[in-house]
Amino acid sequence: MTPEPISLLHGKHIILGVTGSIAAYKAADLASKLTQAGALVDVIMTEAAQKFVAPLTFQAVTGRAVYTDLWGPPAGALPTHIAHVGLAEAADAFAIMPATADTLARLASGRADDLLAITALAARCPLLVAPAMDGGMYHHPATQANIETLVRRGVLLVEPEEGRFASGMIGKGRLPDPATLLGAIRYAVSRGGPLAGRMVVVTAGGTREPIDPVRYVSNRSSGKQGFALAQAALDAGADVTLITTTHQLPLPYGAAAVYVDTAAQLLERTLHHAEAAHALIMAAAVADFRPASPASHKIKKIGDSGAGLSLNMERTQDILMAVKARRAESSFPRIVVGFAAESDDLLQNARDKMARKGVDLLVANDITASDAGFETDTNRVLILDPAGGEERLELASKARVAEHIIERVAGLLN
Ligand code: CTP
Repeated sequence: MTPEPISLLHGKHIILGVTGSIAAYKAADLASKLTQAGALVDVIMTEAAQKFVAPLTFQAVTGRAVYTDLWGPPAGALPTHIAHVGLAEAADAFAIMPATADTLARLASGRADDLLAITALAARCPLLVAPAMDGGMYHHPATQANIETLVRRGVLLVEPEEGRFASGMIGKGRLPDPATLLGAIRYAVSRGGPLAGRMVVVTAGGTREPIDPVRYVSNRSSGKQGFALAQAALDAGADVTLITTTHQLPLPYGAAAVYVDTAAQLLERTLHHAEAAHALIMAAAVADFRPASPASHKIKKIGDSGAGLSLNMERTQDILMAVKARRAESSFPRIVVGFAAESDDLLQNARDKMARKGVDLLVANDITASDAGFETDTNRVLILDPAGGEERLELASKARVAEHIIERVAGLLN
């Protein structure tokens, strides 16, 4: 499946600096993903990088000239004596991925000894570095001091991962996978967006209510719409806390994750984080009932009597109602978005829910449709507001639906 273009990155100029690490091959995949996302990717390769991967690889995946030399322009590109200025001025982000120990040292001391280093000096856009090297080199005090210097200057560090190196040794220093690197670039580009300085809390996934230590009662929520909302809020520049029951989906880069299981835990964490939030988006599917007294030991079926099991269920607390009560005192969160999963009388039920729960926007979906609602990658929603507004969105990816909801939230906040 071709990845969907990323609105935030569409038409953005990204400089990808590739340096001489064995991980340089991963940068080719990153360049390809960025290009497919809609970005214009200009690659600068150091001399050492070209020992690992040919410039032609990057030219092929980006469809653009690759810069390799301070003194000789690539075909069709700007004369290189001004290339660094032109590239640096046009860039929305400069990502050096992978960054070798030598590159970090050169950047930290402000060297200007090749095109990559000169462009880094000329650039005023966000600069990212993703160190990749053997564990011993990464932990060396010299490398750590260089990283510290760069971070102090505002460079965004993409932490390397623990793992096995090409040398066979195990340690910290591996370049994260291209999806994570792309997430970091996306995060850097997004800062300063319409929700900059705003705190957004998103809840996602279905809660799990224990029957015994092995079994639980849950629902079909996958968490996909909630994760897409967290990503869309990040793309708009917000600081995002994602309170989720789902561990299966990749965490959007830059989001603070809070993992919970039950409705009671979700209630407690949501009230805590909502206190400082500008917006709360309750996309989680919260259990309305839970087993009244979960067993502390696994319930045995004992013998072959064929007897059934009855569970005594009790009501859980409604989180949005609790937020509504708090909000009456503190006026935080400023904006609350609720969801409504309905199988009958969508509009009437959704309107009733909006009024009862006191939300500023209510996103309703018909869960009986096969291409919308639970588990799907697409959604078809109706957005209601207390003034009687009714906005029906066409079937779209959950990412697009999320962008639209975040636009509405930004409109209300700003
Ligand atoms: N919600 C909540 N606390 C609960 C149950 C739901 O905060 N205990 C929130 C959901 O996160 C969602 C909204 O309330 O934003 C509506 O959820 P939904 O399941 O559609 O409605 P319910 O309130 O559970 O009502 P019903 O089951 O009767 O449709």
